[in-house]
Order: sequence, then C-alpha cells, then structure tokens
Amino acid sequence: MVNIEETVKAINLKIKNFKPTVGIVLGSGLGSFAEQIDVRYKIKYKDIKDFPVSTIAGHDGSLVFGYLGEVRVVVMKGRFHYYEGYSMEQVTAPIRVMSLLGVKRVLLSNAAGSLNDDLKVGDMMIITNHINMLPNPLVGKNDDRFGTRFPDMKEPYSKRLIEKAKQVYSNLKEGVYISCSGPSYETSAEIKFYKLIGGDAVGMSTIPEVIVARHAGMEVFALSLITNSTNNDIAITHEEVLNIGIKASDRMARLFKELAMVKL
Ligand code: HPA
Repeated sequence: MVNIEETVKAINLKIKNFKPTVGIVLGSGLGSFAEQIDVRYKIKYKDIKDFPVSTIAGHDGSLVFGYLGEVRVVVMKGRFHYYEGYSMEQVTAPIRVMSLLGVKRVLLSNAAGSLNDDLKVGDMMIITNHINMLPNPLVGKNDDRFGTRFPDMKEPYSKRLIEKAKQVYSNLKEGVYISCSGPSYETSAEIKFYKLIGGDAVGMSTIPEVIVARHAGMEVFALSLITNSTNNDIAITHEEVLNIGIKASDRMARLFKELAMVKL
C-alpha cells in the first residue's frame, strides 16, 4: 500500500509547499527535458518514503520541482511500469501524489512502436485516444477523495491542448495508443490484432496514469515518440529507444513548455 497522504506531507516539507500546478511524466530517453526547468527542488525517489524506485536504464528516478517560464511544475524523471513488477496502485501513485500537491494538468510522454505506416521513426504522435490492454488501475475500493466510482473515459485527452500542440508544430501526427504489459515486444499476430482494433502505436505505459489522472479530474495531454516500426523485422533494442528519445528531447521540451503555459 502506498500512503499517498503521508508521501505528500513528506514531500511538502521538503519543497516548502511549492505547489506545482502542472505535472510532467517523462518516458524512456526523454529525461533531459528536465534541463529546461529552473530547478528549485530535486528529490530522489529513494528518499521518498513508500515511493517505488525505477529499475530500468534511462529512467533516472527523481521528482524535479521548478519553473517552466512562469509556471510551477513537477517533473517525474522516470516512471514506473507494470512489467517491473509494481502493482497498478504503485504505477499510478505518483499521479495521485501530484493531484494532492495541487497539480491540475498532466503532460505525459512515452516511447512507442508504430503500427501505422504513416508514423515514422522520430515522429511525434499526439495520443487522441487509447485502448487499454493493461489492468485498470481503478479496480478495487474507490477512493472517493479523488473521484467517482465510474468515471467517464470517452475522451480522456484534452481537445484544447491537442489544438494548441498542433499550433506549436504543424507536423505532429495523431493516433490511438495501445498499452500492453510487455516486457516482451509484440508477436506478429499481436501486431496484426492491434492494427485491426484501431491502434496506431503500441507501448508499455501511460494509459494507467491517464486513467488515474482523469479520475481525479486533471486535464491530460500525452505524446508518443515513435522509436521503431512494428511493421518490419528489425528487432528494437532498449538502447535504440533511448537514443531516439535523446534526439527528440529539444522538440518535445518546446512543445511541453507551450502546453504547460496554457491558462488553466
Ligand atoms: N512495442 C512496445 N513498446 C514499445 C515499442 C514497441 O514496439 N517501442 C517502444 N516501446
């Protein structure tokens, strides 16, 4: 069990009630985005009681608090994945922590494989909708402090933030993201199935966080960085995923900065 309130109390002592309004979750290889922040506080996950620690390369493991322009943000450098062995409660706990810290909007990023030939390696895809193949993180007793038992989930992604993103970069792609557990990549039969059910990109994260954020009434925007195509036989390594992330980092930073500054 993660005691969200205790965690938030401990964090607030360290950050002197800094009160971030926008939360940012960085995916594989995208951690350098945090360099854009005028940092006020940095807390390592291992120094936060009950907080999981990230077990994989490219996920640094810290919460960074600071300013992006005028906006107070908290950046999660390194997220938790179901495939690491964490419960869905642990995977999504940071989103609830953000909510209790005062965050009203979350911007999420991930690395994903394309299912659609229009999406090339290096492209950035705005997630316009999703198909969740992971367990739903809201299963279990509902925590009424955050939201209702049966939250609406038709359009989890903010239309106005999607429009704003398209104004910032005219070459962004859009599509449906499918999350599966991993850690093995998809079989060719699974890829065929994911295309058939309407997926454009596939990855191993993000949707649980989106569900918990929407349950808590937060405004959500999510972006996939395409690191490989699932339509060829070229095996993808985790190192390649990280390198493509590093290259895209500046472009993504500019986009997230603009989105963070949209009036709440
Ligand atoms: N499949 C699942 N997750 C991924 C992929 C992929 O092809 N690429 C990056 N994350």
